[in-house]
Amino acid sequence: MSEILSGKVAIVTGAGSGIGRATAQALARAGAAVVAADLDGGSAARVAQEIGAAGGRATGVRTDVAQEGDIRAMIETAVAEYGGIDILHNNAAASSPALMSRDRDIVSMDIEVWDEAFAVNLRGPMLGCKHAIPQMLKRGGGVIVNTSSASGLTGDVVRPAYGASKGGLGALTLYVATQYGKQGIRCNAIAPGVMETPALAANVSEEDIALYRRNHLTPRLGRPEDVAAAVVFLASPGAAFITGQVISVDGGLLSHHPTYAEFMRRTEG
Ligand SMILES: NC(=O)c1ccc[n+]([C@@H]2O[C@H](COP(=O)([O-])OP(=O)(O)OC[C@H]3O[C@@H](n4cnc5c(N)ncnc54)[C@H](O)[C@@H]3O)[C@@H](O)[C@H]2O)c1
Repeated sequence: MSEILSGKVAIVTGAGSGIGRATAQALARAGAAVVAADLDGGSAARVAQEIGAAGGRATGVRTDVAQEGDIRAMIETAVAEYGGIDILHNNAAASSPALMSRDRDIVSMDIEVWDEAFAVNLRGPMLGCKHAIPQMLKRGGGVIVNTSSASGLTGDVVRPAYGASKGGLGALTLYVATQYGKQGIRCNAIAPGVMETPALAANVSEEDIALYRRNHLTPRLGRPEDVAAAVVFLASPGAAFITGQVISVDGGLLSHHPTYAEFMRRTEG
């Protein structure tokens, strides 16, 4: 049986950890050759090695998605190694505790925090699209999947820079889908709920994780593999008629009445 993405070339940013790592592995298992890009070149190389050891094809590259020169080099690597680009997963986000802990509220916002969030989380994906789309058009089209967040679809008491950058990423998704759809480019975003990744452990306390757990409708929080499976589907021919969507992969986090968790807690005693 041929794999669903065999012959395809994919780039994943933020591929060294968490969701990006799982997506790079899943795309490779589905038959794609993968360029695993990350600010941490060592982790990108490790993920590429893991994929190779499992029988897939992958190359690791050190890429800061906020830097246009790095994005250009990442695209050139995919073209030089594998002949072109079919799939781009814009997944990297600035998620270091040093930054996230300073992203608290608008009035006390350091402008550097705001600018860093937007440089990585929104300018990065825009640069990825800017340089990948011309390569995709040479092959008759392609698929872009952006990793947004439930935080880009709702307001919250923390992390306004992160949330606003992810909201903007939803808008970028619509514009790319609209401007290049007729030329065979599909562009969607995935808005994960709370996922058990290194970034979550680094930025959120145990107490808050328990609170998040109560607000998901599923028995467990998300896992990187949950997003990876959705990316593989969106990249596949089965999703040929899906574009311009922000699709929640969030265990129902945003699907219930705001009083849900309180009611559940009362029932549990
Ligand atoms: N974990 C969650 O609960 C959750 C929820 C919603 C959305 N997301 C989104 O999912 C994506 C992946 O998050 P994760 O939880 O897997 O995080 P993670 O920290 O495990 O992985 C993020 C990776 O991105 C890399 N990175 C950071 N800045 C970069 C840059 N400038 N250029 C290239 N790479 C860079 C990091 O080195 C790291 O390997 C992010 O876009 C994040 O906003 C995560």
